[in-house]
Amino acid sequence: MITTRSSVDAAVNIADLRRLARKRAHKMVFDYIDGGAEDEQTLRRNSAAFAGHRLIHKVLTGVDHVDPSITLLGECLPVPFILSPAAGNRLFHIEGERAVAKAANDIGTVYSLSTLSSVSIEDVAKLTAAPKWFQLYVWKDRALVKKMLDRAKGAGFTALILTADFPIAGQRERDIRNGFTIPPTVGPKQLIEAMRRPAWSWDYLRSEKIRYANISEDTSAVSLSDFVAEQLHTGFNWDDAQWVLDAWGGPALLKGVMHPADAQRARNMGFAAVAISNHGGRQLDGEAAPLDVLPAIRHSVGPDFPLILDGGVRRGSDVLKALLIGANAVSFARPYLYGLAAAGFHGVQRALNILSEELKLSMALAGLVDLKTLSPDMLIRPSGGVPKSRKAYNDG
Ligand code: FNR
Ligand code: LAC
Repeated sequence: MITTRSSVDAAVNIADLRRLARKRAHKMVFDYIDGGAEDEQTLRRNSAAFAGHRLIHKVLTGVDHVDPSITLLGECLPVPFILSPAAGNRLFHIEGERAVAKAANDIGTVYSLSTLSSVSIEDVAKLTAAPKWFQLYVWKDRALVKKMLDRAKGAGFTALILTADFPIAGQRERDIRNGFTIPPTVGPKQLIEAMRRPAWSWDYLRSEKIRYANISEDTSAVSLSDFVAEQLHTGFNWDDAQWVLDAWGGPALLKGVMHPADAQRARNMGFAAVAISNHGGRQLDGEAAPLDVLPAIRHSVGPDFPLILDGGVRRGSDVLKALLIGANAVSFARPYLYGLAAAGFHGVQRALNILSEELKLSMALAGLVDLKTLSPDMLIRPSGGVPKSRKAYNDG
């Protein structure tokens, strides 16, 4: 099946885009995007946590104009979501990171570029005039890290995202079974799957060889876990994080925080924000969902410290729930990656539009005309309790 623009236009929700991605992309590629670690308990839990929270709408608020904009780290964003960083996008679709950056530009929200991108820092930078942030994995080689930070700054990336939940790769069993490597190893098993996915295979054949474009010219196939074990600094600790903050010298977010004490420490050492995340359930399986830990983290960092939450956001109403519980913004990767794998730029654009339209609809139906003053009593927690505090968390 060849996914056309009209089939992504007909996608009603993110689950539809996921189905289209599964039909178009090679199995090993779809599984790399879609899968989580081990039994995928945490992957499922991330989304289920949203379903466990229930909204309560207000009436007669006059919702003829709904404004979902926010201010985040000094940036006015038209929507309260940004794009989480994701590695190797050209594997998913030939347009890769270029498509995602252009779609972020069109909607006007933050694009985050992964250290492990398949298009270089400089090439992506030109494609979006909206704010762009650079995500860092810390290499054993500090000189390489410093060089990468300088390149990102030089290319106009305004904030750094230091990802801290990936000292080594989690055990993704789908990837092991599929013999997944970057770039792909093409053995008999992968060839059979490639024949089942002609549109993806044709793209792959005519695409420039997939490589980690920020790091080296090397295109030898290696599993992500071997690559990471060989190249990343497994001993990375709080002192190294301080070194990164100093080397960057600008606003930085710590991504992959789940424990309230870590969030507090990040705030105290000068991080501008924390991204609450368990890496989309791809690392420690059995871990809680970001939404589960959000109230305790909000409590530990106080009302004014910016918190971004990612993991499991699939609906506009999920975005609203996270904001009501105390996040300043949310982010996501799979929703736009499904769109990318389904149809390149148009698919990413469709994913962002779906979530933006759903959010506006949920706001209107909840009786919210903007996101400036959100009262947590519009939500029932899984324990059944309605929070008493009426503190508004949004800084916009
Ligand atoms: C990721 N994620 C990720 N995070 C990061 O900091 N650097 C990276 O290079 C990647 N790469 C990556 C690839 C793919 C295919 C996925 C699905 C995810 C994690 C990502 O930024 C984010 O934390 C989670 O994906 C959020 O969960 P959802 O929105 O995908 O459910
Ligand atoms: C992943 C890495 C690259 O989750 O962040 O696949």
